[in-house]
Amino acid sequence: VESVIITDKINTELQLFFHSNSHSRIAILVDQNSKKYCYPILKNLPNHVVIEIKDGEENKTIETCAKIWSSLTDLKFDRKDLLINLGGGVIGDMGGFCARTYKRGIDFINIPTTLLSQVDASIGGKLGIDFQGFKNHIGLFSNPDLVIIDPIFLKTLPNEQLKSGYAEVIKHHLIADHDGWSKLKSSDWHLSNWKNIIEHSIDIKKSIVRKDPTEKNERKLLNFGHTIGHAVETYMLNTNSPLLHGEAIAIGMICESHVAYQKNMIEMNILIQITDFIKKVYEKVSLTKSMENQLFETMLQDKKNNNDTIMAVLIDEIGSARWDCEINKIEIINSLEYYNQT
Ligand SMILES: NC(=O)c1ccc[n+]([C@@H]2O[C@H](COP(=O)([O-])OP(=O)(O)OC[C@H]3O[C@@H](n4cnc5c(N)ncnc54)[C@H](O)[C@@H]3O)[C@@H](O)[C@H]2O)c1
Ligand SMILES: [Zn+2]
Repeated sequence: VESVIITDKINTELQLFFHSNSHSRIAILVDQNSKKYCYPILKNLPNHVVIEIKDGEENKTIETCAKIWSSLTDLKFDRKDLLINLGGGVIGDMGGFCARTYKRGIDFINIPTTLLSQVDASIGGKLGIDFQGFKNHIGLFSNPDLVIIDPIFLKTLPNEQLKSGYAEVIKHHLIADHDGWSKLKSSDWHLSNWKNIIEHSIDIKKSIVRKDPTEKNERKLLNFGHTIGHAVETYMLNTNSPLLHGEAIAIGMICESHVAYQKNMIEMNILIQITDFIKKVYEKVSLTKSMENQLFETMLQDKKNNNDTIMAVLIDEIGSARWDCEINKIEIINSLEYYNQT
């Protein structure tokens, strides 16, 4: 498992890193937002160059990688050099992928700057890019040489991005932390102590990933909310009200909890706790009856499936879940209707 430092003194940690490592050249990968808001926070950096790319998932492509590899080539980068990924999950996944493939691999460190990348994307070693419309289609598992997380970056993050990352925090609690959940659900999310939240969330993700780094078993638990949520995200992408990843996962967690309720895996009061908390944080999205078939078709394409049956992670109590649970069309449609009615 990677080394992760969670700190409110990013510059001190960076100095320590530079003192104990001797890279000849340093490049910092940013997008326009992390350049504007995050790069100025870094002080006393050694000599370096900045490589800037356009932000957004639509740029997480092989074309952008080609630009990054070209920059590294122009800079005559080699194995003694270092790439620093400063930005959200797109920068981390793609920058890490470029670093590990350039000349068969150079060092890289991640400085995640969104809540989503701090609690989720920068842990677990998944690197990659989208390809021909498929998310994270090309990539590899490899841990960054270091991850440094500082909640200071969250100050400039738009509220909806913060909330999107918070969905993964909720997920971590629902699959693995019964005691933490009661604290979380009685808290006001925007008053969170982010350093504590991040530390705690990372502990949960790390302990799951450690047992199953390549997602054959336990690691699948991290897909809770993502079977139905991802279908909702994909559907809404092509409408004029697209959702952020976490906003869709929030819906997915309500629906998949309802499926667990239908299967008598959890009691009504647990379903209600989950629904109430999530609905308090996220605005309601209206899922019409006409979407149901298409949502179901998208779920059938999910790479987590086994042949033609849809597989999901279902919770059997707060803080405990099972992977590879078959769910059927009726259960899914009932759950979408439950979401709509509450
Ligand atoms: N590797 C993994 O295990 C893993 C897990 C979850 C998600 N992901 C990937 O992560 C990506 C999503 O990550 P994300 O939500 O961070 O998206 P992102 O990188 O697109 O960042 C979201 C937006 O916030 C901006 N931004 C970043 N930091 C900022 C700051 N401090 N202040 C203001 N604006 C800032 C970015 O420029 C961007 O516009 C997806 O590509 C997803 O596939 C990977
Ligand atoms: Zn997710």
